[in-house]
This record gives sequence, structure tokens and C-alpha cells, in this order.
Amino acid sequence: MKKFDVIAIGELNVDLILNNIDGEPEIGKEKFAKAMNLTLGSSTAIFAANIACLGSRTGFVGMVGRDTFGDLIEFSLSGKGVDTSMLIRSDKHSSGATICLNYHEERANITYQGAMDYMSLDDIDKTIFTRTKHIHLSSIFMQSGIQRDLIDILKLARDNKVTTSLDTQWDPAERWNMDYEKILPHVDIFLPNETELKFITRSMTLEEAVEKITPYIHICVVKRGRKGSLLLRKNQPPIHLDAFVNNDVTDAIGAGDSFNAGFIHAFVKGDTAENAQVTGNLTGAVNTTAAGGTGAFTSKEAVKSIAREKFKQSLKI
Ligand SMILES: Nc1ncnc2c1ncn2[C@@H]1O[C@H](COP(=O)(O)OP(=O)(O)O)[C@@H](O)[C@H]1O
Ligand SMILES: [Mg+2]
Repeated sequence: MKKFDVIAIGELNVDLILNNIDGEPEIGKEKFAKAMNLTLGSSTAIFAANIACLGSRTGFVGMVGRDTFGDLIEFSLSGKGVDTSMLIRSDKHSSGATICLNYHEERANITYQGAMDYMSLDDIDKTIFTRTKHIHLSSIFMQSGIQRDLIDILKLARDNKVTTSLDTQWDPAERWNMDYEKILPHVDIFLPNETELKFITRSMTLEEAVEKITPYIHICVVKRGRKGSLLLRKNQPPIHLDAFVNNDVTDAIGAGDSFNAGFIHAFVKGDTAENAQVTGNLTGAVNTTAAGGTGAFTSKEAVKSIAREKFKQSLKI
């Protein structure tokens, strides 16, 4: 019996969010913000918190500093029911942070990556490969150590019969260097959004991107925001599934991570990819009904009741 259903390997940082700011920043001047919030950031943390909320036994592998932000990250993750015993505390590097300047619907973000950029396979306790059913990897463009060691990590997982998923997330440097022809054959579930997929495959259209990656994938789900999602497999026709549209969106922060949580929770339980796609669309939609990435995920019952009342769906989890 394995201890974990899912271990997430990903980025960790804090978000310092400033609201109601008097104008835009100007060099040499100082301005007031009328509200501030210091909270757990990072999309892999949203994923881990939400899949734990759905009932998967979840652990997190990530690197933070031996500092106050590291303590805040660890405390917040464990408060969400995520096992933090595999977090790595760096003596050399401090925890990362994103400063978010919030202007109505728009945000200007500046991220200091800190410790997360330095974690590599060498730092990871190899017993994780025997203690979990599934490994989810995320945000590789923010973690150069993990990006370099990606294929080795995926191979170790497969050697141990551990299934894997990968969500590259956005590349802040916008270089989009991912050798997808080499990497994707080692990934069980690839979970990009539409824009990211087009950049990674250097395609102008979704059709072109789909054509390019299909020979290399096992399962791929392309997340398409309000348009829903597209399930791709090598030898089966694509399945487009409309979103359970929320016309009253609070915000869409973390919708993709919540989609991943629903899809992978269902997949690891043994559901078909088709059923997992429905679950993912639904948990993505549920995400948009409350503030931030984890606001709607207070308990499994609460998620089910939003699905039932707001979207008239029964969430089979
Ligand atoms: N406005 C919305 N209404 C209902 N579902 C949504 C909405 N926005 C996103 N979703 C669901 O969440 C999933 C992930 O959102 P998306 O924005 O595509 O991901 P990402 O956050 O990675 O860019 C979508 O595939 C869709 O199923
Ligand atoms: Mg995303």
C-alpha cells in the first residue's frame, strides 16, 4: 500500500499582493497601497491543495529557504492537508516571492525565484518513486534544475510504475525551450493551456499544434478557458468538451491548476480519460466561483455542492 496517491514536484513562493494603489510605480518616488495581503503563491501549491481537498493523499516536493517565507509556505500547505515532510530547506538560497501590483482586473507581477530555481534531482529523496502512485510536475520554466533533469525524473517514475503528469505553465522568459519530441513520450498526461501549447510547438493555430504533438503523446488535455478542453490521444479521435460556463466569474486565478487537480484525482482513482476530462472541466469551473485558486475548495462536500447547485452536475469523486 503506497503512502501517497500524488506527489507534486513544483515551485513554491509567497505572493505579496498590493491593492488600491495610488497610480503606477515611478522610479525615485514612493506611493501608497491601501490594502495588502501576504499569502502562499505558486500554481503547483494551488494544485496540491485542491487535489488534497478532493481526497487524494498528497505530498509536495519543493525547495524553500530557511526563512520566514519558507515557514509561511510550509504552514499554509500543511493547513491545506498537504504532506510537507518532503520539502527541502536550502541553506544557501532564500525563498522566492512574487510582488503583485493589482490594478482592477490587471496585475503587474515581479517574481524573485529564489530557492525553487536551484532544486534538482540530486536534492530529491529517491524513495518518493516507491511511495506514490503518481507524480505531477509543474512550472518547469521557473525551475531550471528540474527542467534540466526532467527526462531523468520521468524515467525513474516509469521504471517504478509511477504515472506522471506535466503542466509546463507559462515561461516568464518567453523562450519556450522544451524538446517536446523527446520529453512527451515519457509523460502519461500532458496538461498545457492552448496558448502555452502554441508557443511550445511554435504553431500559429491550435490545429497545427495538435498535429505536431500528437505523435509523441499518451494523453494530452489542452485547457481552453471558457471554451472548455480538448482531450487528445495518439490513436483516437480528439474529444472537445464545452466548459460548464460560469457567466458570473469571481476570478479565474488557478482555474488550470484546479482542472489538473480534478483530472488527475479521477485518473489516479482509475477513471477513464473521458470521465477525468469531465471532472477536470467541472473543478476548473468550480474554481471560478470564488476568489483566488483555492477559495472554492474548502471541502470535498463544498466542491460537490457548488457543482450540483451552480452547474447542475453531480461530481463523481
Ligand atoms: N469562465 C469559465 N467558466 C467555466 N469554466 C471555466 C472558465 N474558465 C476556465 N474554466 C475551466 O477551467 C479550465 C482551465 O482554465 P484555463 O484558463 O484554460 O487554464 P489556465 O489557468 O492554465 O490558463 C478550462 O479548461 C475550463 O474547463
Ligand atoms: Mg496553467
